[in-house]
Amino acid sequence: MTSFRPAPSWLADAVFYQIYPQSYADSGGDGIGDFNGITGHLDHLAWLGVNAVWLNPCFVSPFRDAGYDVSDYLNVAPRYGSNDELGKLVDEAGRHGIRVLLDLVAGHTSDEHPWFTASADDPDDHRYIWAPEGRPDGFVPSPGSRPGSYLPNFFDSQPALNFGYARENPAEPWRQSVDAEGPRANREALRSVMDHWLRLGVAGFRVDMASSLVKDDPGRRETSRLWSELRDWLDTAHPGAVLLSEWGEPEVSVPAGFHVDFFLQFGGPTDGLAMRSLWSNGEGTVDENWDPLDCFFDPSGRGSPRPFLDAWRQASTATRGSGFVSLPTANHDFSRLNCGPRTAEQLPAAFAFQLTWPTLPAIYYGDEIGMRYADGLPDKEGSVLGPRYNRAGSRTPMQWDDTENAGFSTAPADQLYLPVDPAPDRPTVAAQRSDETSLLHFVRRLVRLRTTTPELGSDGSVEVLHAGYPFVYVRGGRYLVVVNPQRNETSCAYASGSARPLEVSGVELDGGTITARGFGYGIFDLGHQGAALRRE
Ligand code: NOJ
Repeated sequence: MTSFRPAPSWLADAVFYQIYPQSYADSGGDGIGDFNGITGHLDHLAWLGVNAVWLNPCFVSPFRDAGYDVSDYLNVAPRYGSNDELGKLVDEAGRHGIRVLLDLVAGHTSDEHPWFTASADDPDDHRYIWAPEGRPDGFVPSPGSRPGSYLPNFFDSQPALNFGYARENPAEPWRQSVDAEGPRANREALRSVMDHWLRLGVAGFRVDMASSLVKDDPGRRETSRLWSELRDWLDTAHPGAVLLSEWGEPEVSVPAGFHVDFFLQFGGPTDGLAMRSLWSNGEGTVDENWDPLDCFFDPSGRGSPRPFLDAWRQASTATRGSGFVSLPTANHDFSRLNCGPRTAEQLPAAFAFQLTWPTLPAIYYGDEIGMRYADGLPDKEGSVLGPRYNRAGSRTPMQWDDTENAGFSTAPADQLYLPVDPAPDRPTVAAQRSDETSLLHFVRRLVRLRTTTPELGSDGSVEVLHAGYPFVYVRGGRYLVVVNPQRNETSCAYASGSARPLEVSGVELDGGTITARGFGYGIFDLGHQGAALRRE
């Protein structure tokens, strides 16, 4: 196994915040978010206490997959501003104590990228995966003078870059080895792209579809080898830079070289069960292939934290000392927390858990005020993936204030990237900022508690006392956390002792019993006696 340079120390205390640039803040009044808009709202992020921001792809693109179809990796999309404005955002963020990570779309380009248009006219070019004759399963007919067809990586408009195949197959003679010229050129290109943006001062990358690079790769062995090679290069060329993978299997991706992997709605042997078993309540974005499940954060109380705990134990054992696992509240491909039967009153318990668990928290923009997944939107830039899978519902404009268009822009509503929630009681940052009892203030206090309390961070131990309703655990031998995501009151036994409440709503510790009202949560400081707590 390769040994990598240790992760930069800031990562252990990271609280990530994901920004979908189209929808975050529109400084230009054209209805689409931009870099200057984000720069203008860094105060919000610094006030909230997050210390690293991940921006979805912001490069030149025809936007048939919202920017995940890059046609120029070295220049930003004009709709977001200029390369200099991105540089200014990175610098200003740094002054606010916030690092910026970009999205590296490593596995494919747009079919409008000059690499692809050239390849589609040149049968000797191997930057993409071409079958010289006919159209094998999954391939798409060549759009150029080159005969045959190419392999897409996601939509047809996203041709897969050729990183080779892990093994040969006589029935598919077009397969190239990972060390062929095309794959080597593509690996070199990834280094150049990373180098370009790291020189601008970004802190690293979230890597799109990181597990997809080498094809027919059992156990992802060759894909892992590729990332290990890139990490070795990064460790020398840019020792402070970090790589977060969209992979969903930390026990494979972190040993391969990623500093952080996400628990996602898909990925790994259980196809995303760790995350879905917490949040996915059958509404919002639903993949027809997912088995129905009762998630833990559901008023019905039919779920369990056990699938998450099993995945977490496995991942944390495999990554300890070498990398981290991140748990997002949501992302641009998945329902927001506030979705379906989960209403605003249920969100504090979810944040109390997410911000006190050792996974690195990632807050999806707008979740800090409880923005709701918007049903029934039209397809926008490739948002629809299936009959019940419209990602647009999680991509609506950040609800800054209550003026026309919720302050997103002065553009007429029909020019907005996506409509703003028209509900009169929609949450807004402005309203919540002036209300100390709001979700926004609560999330801020939790972020602060986490970042100022080492026991609550990624390095602190976790001892589970009750894996059910309520979910009860002790962090760092000292901080007791209780969450009851269901509607009904519930209780469990507890080795009593004195406990100082830090953030509590509807939880009582009394005479050897923990009682938690519906949707209650509590974080208590047990002092040094906490270490003596036993499972009852
Ligand atoms: C994963 C990204 O998160 C998603 O938004 C995108 O559509 C696909 N990868 C393809 O790049």
